[in-house]
Amino acid sequence: MSDELIRRLADADHVAVLTGAGVSAESGVPTFRDEDGLWDRFSPQELAHVDAFLENPDLVQGWYAHRRKVVTETEPNPAHRALADLETLAPNFLLITQNVDDLHQQAGNDNVVELHGNIRRSYCIDCGREASEEDLAPTREGKVAKCPDCDGLLRPDVVWFGERLPEGAMEKAQQAAAAADVFLSVGTSAVVYPAAGLPVAAAEHGAYTAEVNTGRSAVADDLDEVLLGKAGEVLPPLVESAREEADART
Ligand code: OAD
Repeated sequence: MSDELIRRLADADHVAVLTGAGVSAESGVPTFRDEDGLWDRFSPQELAHVDAFLENPDLVQGWYAHRRKVVTETEPNPAHRALADLETLAPNFLLITQNVDDLHQQAGNDNVVELHGNIRRSYCIDCGREASEEDLAPTREGKVAKCPDCDGLLRPDVVWFGERLPEGAMEKAQQAAAAADVFLSVGTSAVVYPAAGLPVAAAEHGAYTAEVNTGRSAVADDLDEVLLGKAGEVLPPLVESAREEADART
């Protein structure tokens, strides 16, 4: 980690962070594109597309029930906690996540934009009613879960391939990227757009950009710094150093 990044973070008025599955890897949530990742073992066309859901609702609901269970049994790791700490350091801060696991909120981040939804929520595709745990109980037995009000199918509140992002989410993320003095991209392969365009957009608007990843992402060459390593090991000392630097100035 460079002194430049620490100084920039300590000085920054606006900080924006984009996160992907890698930030939750150390909590035990599988990533998508690493070796043995979800898209290595499962087909996105069969599980993350509305047509697949309408064709095989039991299969898709069952897969999400399993992922929901994994997520509810996990806890934030030091990377999530460092990013929650960073929010208290930066005067203006936005955490933009592609993750659906809720772990940033659980770690204490308040300003979070979920670009791809949240797996802990489900709703009826016909009447929009939010589903309760009880409504989803049949999915744990391989049965189809339906809305108790209108009998419509219940789906997870996540963005599937070909679907629009939640209203206003991308606009908020783009504004934060444009305003950012420092933009961090953490644990994302940066191949799924429009999220993947944010680090470069931030760089074009003058932000100092850095990536934290165990490997180089698709946009690494366009950023100012690449910090190779696990997010849970790289972020805590980075944020701590930035806080010490900021304290030393006051
Ligand atoms: P990917 O699985 O594509 O990428 C995970 C990234 O995290 C890779 O670049 C890894 O090198 C890195 N990584 C793994 N472990 C790490 C660790 N401990 N610390 C730091 N980095 C680590 O996941 P995303 O980029 O999040 O979309 O994928 C983007 C979207 O593709 C997801 O939101 C999902 C998927 O299809 C939807 O479901 C709509």
